[in-house]
Amino acid sequence: MKFKIRARELLFFSFLLLLLAVSPPTVQCSSEEEEEIQRSQFPDAFFFGTSTSAYQVEGAYLEDGKSLANWDAFTHIPGNIINNDNGDVVDDHYHRYMEDIELLHSLGVNAYRFSISWARILPRGKSGDVNPEGIRFYNKIIDSLLLRGIEPFVTICHFDLPQSLEDKYGGWLNPLIREDFVYFAAICFKEFGDRVKYWVTINEPNHWVDFSYIRGMYPPGHCSLPFGNCSVGNSDAEPLVAMHNMLISHAMAADFYRKHFQAKQNGFVGMVVSSFMYEPLRDKEEDRQAVSRALAFTIAWALDPVVHGDYPEEMRECIGLKLPKFSAQEREILRRGSIDFIGINHYSTLYIKDCINSTCSPKSYHPIQGFVETTGLRDGLPIGQPTGKAVFFVVPRGMEEIIEYIKHRYNNILMFVTENGYASPLQENEQELLQDLNRIKFHKDYLIALARAVRKGANVRGYFIWSLMDNFEWADGYGTRFGLYYVDRTTLRRFPKLSAKWFTSFLTDTNASGHSHHEGVFLESI
Ligand code: NOJ
Repeated sequence: MKFKIRARELLFFSFLLLLLAVSPPTVQCSSEEEEEIQRSQFPDAFFFGTSTSAYQVEGAYLEDGKSLANWDAFTHIPGNIINNDNGDVVDDHYHRYMEDIELLHSLGVNAYRFSISWARILPRGKSGDVNPEGIRFYNKIIDSLLLRGIEPFVTICHFDLPQSLEDKYGGWLNPLIREDFVYFAAICFKEFGDRVKYWVTINEPNHWVDFSYIRGMYPPGHCSLPFGNCSVGNSDAEPLVAMHNMLISHAMAADFYRKHFQAKQNGFVGMVVSSFMYEPLRDKEEDRQAVSRALAFTIAWALDPVVHGDYPEEMRECIGLKLPKFSAQEREILRRGSIDFIGINHYSTLYIKDCINSTCSPKSYHPIQGFVETTGLRDGLPIGQPTGKAVFFVVPRGMEEIIEYIKHRYNNILMFVTENGYASPLQENEQELLQDLNRIKFHKDYLIALARAVRKGANVRGYFIWSLMDNFEWADGYGTRFGLYYVDRTTLRRFPKLSAKWFTSFLTDTNASGHSHHEGVFLESI
């Protein structure tokens, strides 16, 4: 009997061994879900921060000498913004900045990116006086940040300008804006440059001109059919002109910094671009080529000129005659070190379909965006988990891919991820908004992809979460929330979301998982 059992056991184990031998080896591939991310996977000198911009948080829209900005005028026209929301008060950061700096301090970040309101510093552009109250406000912010060991990253222009410059000469459509911009930038360098070492001239010129001059959804609300139904505008020509003026303004400001401030102040000047990653919609060569075109027509459109001195080859081939030309002198200041770093705002990845050889709806693609159609869906399935912002899907691999693209195209120049963030689904209630596990997962997975890029040698030195707190999401108003802090729209009180606590634990802990030993503390305090 005993013997019989042994024989049966033996048979069983031999069968098991056989099974193991013939079954294919299980590959231990580390999926993003399983991987952990730790602060120590990034260099010690890495910046971790959060981002905001003036119009999106400050409020106090006509206080202490500030004039109307383009966004004040635009949001006050009924129908322009969802719910007719506006930035008159927003988060009242203008009065609560000290509380907000304490939030930054308690998060444990070592950097903070914010922007300067042009209309607060120069209410009437260069033809008027500098507003001392405006200077005082940003001085207090900068000093308070530095006192807490937080490095200020300052954006000179983040989608806002004095409305008077729109009224006077048409804002970015007129070359006159170049002198105005350099004048404004020079005042910022002069007043704040002894303490600010990281300057961004212009935020996302590529997205800005798209939404202001192709789709008409941002001020001055210009567009033409079939891209939008505006009373003024030309969606084919104006974006090219506005971009041209922005790029030259950037180069002139950087040149001014190099000539008059760099030696004393030792700072860096960069530009920030909106950087979607793209993947071919269909397994076809023409869609793969369309992906390269889409990248060139969005990212390289803004970056090739400031790094290489001219518009990308891909654009010159396709729409050469329509592209404005840089003079020899402009090319020179663009190429001669107009940029020390590239700021990458990356949120999502989209599918791309070629529209040169395939039929696309005329509304859905634009020649100056590379003759491609962009979509988040393939056969009805989203490319990643949808979020509270229509074109933002969660696709962490895109972070590594976009960094690789920029690294190769621009010779591994210094890079910062100046924005990355998750918009909570629109239908969430307050409790759900506070318990934002999806946002934690988003940042962990995107950081895992970023760490991979850094390990492969990408010269990335910082990562900023958009945003410190819920704020005014442009045409989408207040419904779309990206903050680590929840802002109660009635009382304007700030409450930490779970993600704020996760970020702190990530920054201070070697075992930051979002559900580590800190979890009890997280849940108690909510
Ligand atoms: C990029 C812009 O810079 C910022 O102002 C905006 O709120 C975020 N993307 C989210 O859409």
